[in-house]
Amino acid sequence: MSLLILGIESSCDETGVALVRAEGSAVPTLLAHALHSQVAMHEAYGGVVPELASRDHIRRVLPLTQAVLNEAGESLAAVDVVAYTRGPGLAGALLVGAGVACALGAALDIPVLGVHHLEGHLLSPFLSSDPPEFPFIALLVSGGHTQLMRVDGVGRYEILGETIDDAAGEAFDKSAKLLGLGYPGGPALSRLAEQGDAKAFKLPRPLLHSGDLDFSFAGLKTAVLTQAKKLGDELPARKADLAASTQAAIVEVLVRKTLAALDQTGLRRVVVAGGVGANRLLREQLGAACTKRQVRVHYPELALCTDNGAMIAMAAAMRLQSGRQQANRGYAFDVKPRWPLDAIAA
Ligand code: KG4
Ligand code: ZN
Repeated sequence: MSLLILGIESSCDETGVALVRAEGSAVPTLLAHALHSQVAMHEAYGGVVPELASRDHIRRVLPLTQAVLNEAGESLAAVDVVAYTRGPGLAGALLVGAGVACALGAALDIPVLGVHHLEGHLLSPFLSSDPPEFPFIALLVSGGHTQLMRVDGVGRYEILGETIDDAAGEAFDKSAKLLGLGYPGGPALSRLAEQGDAKAFKLPRPLLHSGDLDFSFAGLKTAVLTQAKKLGDELPARKADLAASTQAAIVEVLVRKTLAALDQTGLRRVVVAGGVGANRLLREQLGAACTKRQVRVHYPELALCTDNGAMIAMAAAMRLQSGRQQANRGYAFDVKPRWPLDAIAA
């Protein structure tokens, strides 16, 4: 079996398109990918404006598709399957990718396949030069999700713990907003943190000793706000210290809970996926702790940590290879703005 899969991602504020080739049971290969980030457009509003996001996806998706076809030296007629993000995400934004994918599928008379966005993140390390092997613990840390999972194979996902309120990315974004750092907050806050002292402020590590693998980050932003108010006029001079202390609190909880998940399951491999996986401190501290325990840690390539089309094409390729899903010619698409990952687990 050789399949050329076109993947389209449009769940939030990046339009991503990619081409992946799946040959037999070998790890599929990425032929080309292209991305348009809407960050500059949403920046003025301090966050994603859903209606603007949808309209921009409409403008970008076909030119990006043409760009990846050109880069890979392929034509639309050579595409065997069109994969798209079916959810979770912003309904209007998802509808753009789903609509374009199904229109292309119908026009070309080829099957389409709706992919779970988080499964895309989860399998994105398979696109790296050092792909993982099953089973592994996955730490999924994005703007909307924070989950620890046991992954035994494609579609075999067991959620071990998750956030009971804000996601780790949300904690970065909301704290950054409180500090006036703009959107998206994660990269901005971690950049400022490089110049600060992480021990300067004592911030809470919610649920660190809860004995389970759940997370809670909502209290942290309140603590950051309280601290910022307390500093008053001193805040500008201490901003880097507060950013560093915030980042340290988030990262410590993520690392400790991941180690607990390894202890609980006895597994010796970790995959980190989702936007927060780009965080340098998280990579450093998790890396050091895992090296000590002779546990392997895998990340997606840095450029594929945040949303992209490659992970969607890859997840589709791996689902088709595993026989867990058939692509089909059902072009009456729907999307799932809310869609728990365990709903697609076997
Ligand atoms: O996976 P992603 O691109 O989108 C979702 O599916 O949510 O993740 C975006 C999240 C945002 O909250 C962003 O602030 C965070 O990932 N992020 C980071 C870094 N880069 C992106 N957080 C901390 N440090 C970073 N370097
Ligand atoms: Zn994402």
